[in-house]
Amino acid sequence: MCGIVGYVGFREAAPILLGGLRRLEYRGYDSAGIATLHEGKLYLLKAQGRVDDLLARLNGRRLPGHIGIAHTRWATHGEPSDINAHPHTDMRGIVALIHNGIIENYASLRTELERKGYAFRSQTDTEVLAHLIEAFWIGCDFETAVRRALSLVVGAYGLAIISPREPDTLIIARKGSPLILGIGEGEYIVASDASAIVEHTRQVIYLEDGEMAIVRPTGYVVKSIENVEKTKEICTIEWSLEQIERGGFEHFMLKEIFEQPTSLENTLRGRIHPGRPEVQLGGLLPVRDRLLQARRIILVGCGTSWHAGLVGEYLIESLARIPVEVEYASEFRYRDPILYPDDVVIAISQSGETADTLAAVREARARGALVLGICNVVGSSIARETEAGVYLHAGPEIGVASTKAFTSQVAVLAMLALMLARGRTLTDAEILVYVEELYQIPEKIRRILDIRPAIQELAQRFKDVTNFLYLGRGPNFPVALEGALKLKEISYIHAEGYPAAEMKHGPIALIDENMPVVFIALHDGTYEKILSNIQEVRARRGQVIAITDALDPTLEELASAILQIPGTLDPFTPLLAVVPLQLLAYEIAVLRGCDVDKPRNLAKSVTVE
Ligand code: AGP
Repeated sequence: MCGIVGYVGFREAAPILLGGLRRLEYRGYDSAGIATLHEGKLYLLKAQGRVDDLLARLNGRRLPGHIGIAHTRWATHGEPSDINAHPHTDMRGIVALIHNGIIENYASLRTELERKGYAFRSQTDTEVLAHLIEAFWIGCDFETAVRRALSLVVGAYGLAIISPREPDTLIIARKGSPLILGIGEGEYIVASDASAIVEHTRQVIYLEDGEMAIVRPTGYVVKSIENVEKTKEICTIEWSLEQIERGGFEHFMLKEIFEQPTSLENTLRGRIHPGRPEVQLGGLLPVRDRLLQARRIILVGCGTSWHAGLVGEYLIESLARIPVEVEYASEFRYRDPILYPDDVVIAISQSGETADTLAAVREARARGALVLGICNVVGSSIARETEAGVYLHAGPEIGVASTKAFTSQVAVLAMLALMLARGRTLTDAEILVYVEELYQIPEKIRRILDIRPAIQELAQRFKDVTNFLYLGRGPNFPVALEGALKLKEISYIHAEGYPAAEMKHGPIALIDENMPVVFIALHDGTYEKILSNIQEVRARRGQVIAITDALDPTLEELASAILQIPGTLDPFTPLLAVVPLQLLAYEIAVLRGCDVDKPRNLAKSVTVE
């Protein structure tokens, strides 16, 4: 997520803004920028890289003024670069703004503006807004121009806007991305989260979606975007800085588990729409025809990303009937793979920097295949070295154990499968059923997060075991692998994932009263088989933890613990079944006193071989 800071008051703005950017660095970003106003002149500076790079660019120069805005950018549209960094301005420099969020209809707005002669400098969605506000600022005041521009926008925004025409006025607006206004003594500071505010004041108001505020040194007024004045309660922030950075959660991993409804909504945003039997993956448009003619798709990745690929195999083969192979990137790159010109290789990587996956990309490209990427970090090496791809838009994932990236990767693979299936193996009516259900998944995850107390109890019962077995079938076999990986990488308990039917080919020898077995027991076509596997475990005194979408007397009699989740269409069950397993691993690791966000021996991105 991008970071926003704005200031208006009696003090020099730049030091406060730069200090605020430092506070927001934890959110993850790839570039930074700042703009202040002084004596009717706009002073603006921005740079790819860190806040330190911005300071180096300043080189000791002063940015004068008692009003300003500053931004840390987490790229969604447009590579990380100086020109794509915020603040963005219109052509005449009468509007400067910073933005957190995604403008879904920016392309059509940009086309219209370019048709009218507006010249764009960046590849960002944000720049569209600066031109729109300038375009509307005729015969009306600043806030009206902003209001008119926002009325055209589809998507999410948290905005801070200044103008040399109104040197004492800071306008902020919120729809979908948080904005907090700190109330000081004769000064105001706005930010994406309280970490940039608390050192100045703990008195804040929280803007709600659809609200804007006009802020001056003499005071502020909050209005709806429809220009209805609002009275807002002033709240006091009680959190410590550390608590604020984690959004009040104890660890980044827990914050990111709970972010999944939102991160998934962002992954789906602008790509599927209720009532429309289509999937729009804009990043794949340049290679759409070649992709649709793929004779085979090879998914490569490591760790959790490899697990997402295994789910992708089920999704693409079951929905689009295109053969899929899933390869560990580290194996693919060394086994002299046989590739054909009509093969498509898709690299899956949250960081976009995993050395083995990047090497696999280079190997595949050298052999003439079409190579695509599914990454979370815009402008990452894998994103840049693949011919096209899809970004997760999941926001920075800071916990070493990957959680929200996994569900977003699976969601992208589901959308890819539907895009490939449309008009070939699935009718529009069938596509529509899947699209409507995919749209429901974030809300269903919200409901799953409510069972955290039951998972905490379970963690108490099993925190001291030395081995775990995770079993699943079909698209939930990879979820069994992912659940096992989560547990072992943060709690250091040995855990293995297996296809449930494989148990009798070896692992059943391990079963006894000390070996808890997690079954993903969903009422898809495999439920009866899973039930018999559970009986086999119980016959050997094994303890069974069942993740299920519907209770039945047999399961209740056999399982020593049941976690119930909402049902969904079979191909989408991994998106739901994985969530309780993420939480189970987290709760056990916390009880074992492990460093959940930075587990021993692990790095967030394995950039070495
Ligand atoms: C998963 O929790 C681990 N952090 C690890 O397996 C990770 O998925 C793997 O290193 C791949 O990382 P990437 O997605 O950034 O390429």
